[in-house]
Amino acid sequence: MVRKLVSIFTILGVLFLFSASFAAHKYVGEKKCKMCHKLEKYGNQQEVWENSLHSKAFETLGTAKAKEAAKKLGIDDPQKSEKCLRCHVAGYDAPAEEKAATYSMEEGVSCEACHGPGSDYKKMKVMKDKDAAIAAGLIMPKEKTCKKCHTPEGNEFYKEFNYEKFWAKIAHPLPKK
Ligand code: HEC
Ligand code: HEC
Ligand code: HEC
Ligand code: HEC
Repeated sequence: MVRKLVSIFTILGVLFLFSASFAAHKYVGEKKCKMCHKLEKYGNQQEVWENSLHSKAFETLGTAKAKEAAKKLGIDDPQKSEKCLRCHVAGYDAPAEEKAATYSMEEGVSCEACHGPGSDYKKMKVMKDKDAAIAAGLIMPKEKTCKKCHTPEGNEFYKEFNYEKFWAKIAHPLPKK
C-alpha cells in the first residue's frame, strides 16, 4: 500500500516537473515591470528605458524614413512586416500563446526584449532572489543579446556596434546597497 502510494506520488511529481519545465514563460509587457521599476528605491530603470530610442522602436517604423527604406525592399507597411518587426519589438518571434493579453508591440524594444518573458519572474518574492528569477526565465543580458539586433544584416541604418559605448547610453543599475 505504502509503496503504491509512493509510486503514485513519484509519477505525479514527475508529471508536475514535466509540465512546469515545458510551460513557456509569457511576455507580459513593460507596464508590468514599471509598477516596481519606476520606483527610485529600486533604481527607476523605467525612466532610462523610456528616454531611450528602444521605447520608440515601434513608432520609428511608422515614420517617413522607415517607409522610404521599406519601399525599396518591396515592403508596404514596416509596422506590419516581419522583416522590420523582428528587431523593433520584443518577442516578435514568440508564438501567440507566449504573449499575455497585456503584451503590446507598441512598446517597442521593451524590458523583455533583453530580459526575457517575465510572467514567472516578475513576482516580488522571485525578483528578490536572483537565482530563482533566473530559474524562472530572467535573462541577465550580455553583448550577444544585443547583437541579435545590432547586426548589419537586415538593418538599413546599421551603426557600428560597440558594447561598452552603447551600454553606457542605456545603463540602468540597481541602487547601491
Ligand atoms: C513586484 C515588483 C517587481 C516587478 C513587477 C518586477 N520587478 Fe524586477 N526587481 C524587483 C526588485 C525589488 C528587484 C531588486 C532585487 C534585489 O535588490 O535583489 C528587481 C530586480 C530585477 C533585475 C535585476 C536582478 C538582479 O538581482 O540583478 C532585473 C533584470 C529585473 N528586476 C527585471 C524586471 C523585469 C524585466 C520586469 C517585468 C517583466 C520586472 N523586473 C518586474 C521588483 C520587481
Ligand atoms: C530586439 C532588438 C534589440 C536588442 C536586443 C537591442 N537593441 Fe538596441 N536598438 C534596437 C533598435 C531597433 C534601435 C533603434 C530604435 C529607433 O531608432 O527607434 C536600437 C537603438 C539602440 C541605441 C541607440 C539609441 C539611443 O537610445 O540613444 C543604443 C545605445 C542601443 N540600442 C543599445 C543596445 C544595447 C547595449 C543592447 C544590449 C544590451 C541592445 N541595444 C539590444 C534594437 C535592439
Ligand atoms: C537586424 C535588426 C534590424 C532589422 C531587421 C531592422 N532594423 Fe531598423 N534598426 C535596427 C537598429 C539596431 C537600429 C539603430 C541603429 C543601429 O544602432 O544600428 C535601427 C534603426 C532604424 C531606424 C532609425 C534610423 C535613424 O537613423 O533615424 C529606422 C527608420 C529603421 N531602423 C527602420 C527599419 C525598417 C523599415 C526595417 C525593415 C525593412 C528595419 N528597420 C529592420 C535594427 C533593425
Ligand atoms: C536593450 C536591452 C535592455 C533593455 C531594453 C532593458 N534592459 Fe535591463 N539590463 C540590460 C543589461 C545588459 C543589464 C546588465 C546585466 C549585467 O550587469 O550583467 C541590465 C540590468 C538590469 C537590472 C539590474 C541592474 C544591476 O545593477 O544589477 C535591472 C533591475 C534591469 N536591467 C531592469 C530593466 C527594466 C525594468 C527594463 C525595462 C524598463 C529593462 N531592464 C530594459 C539590458 C536591458
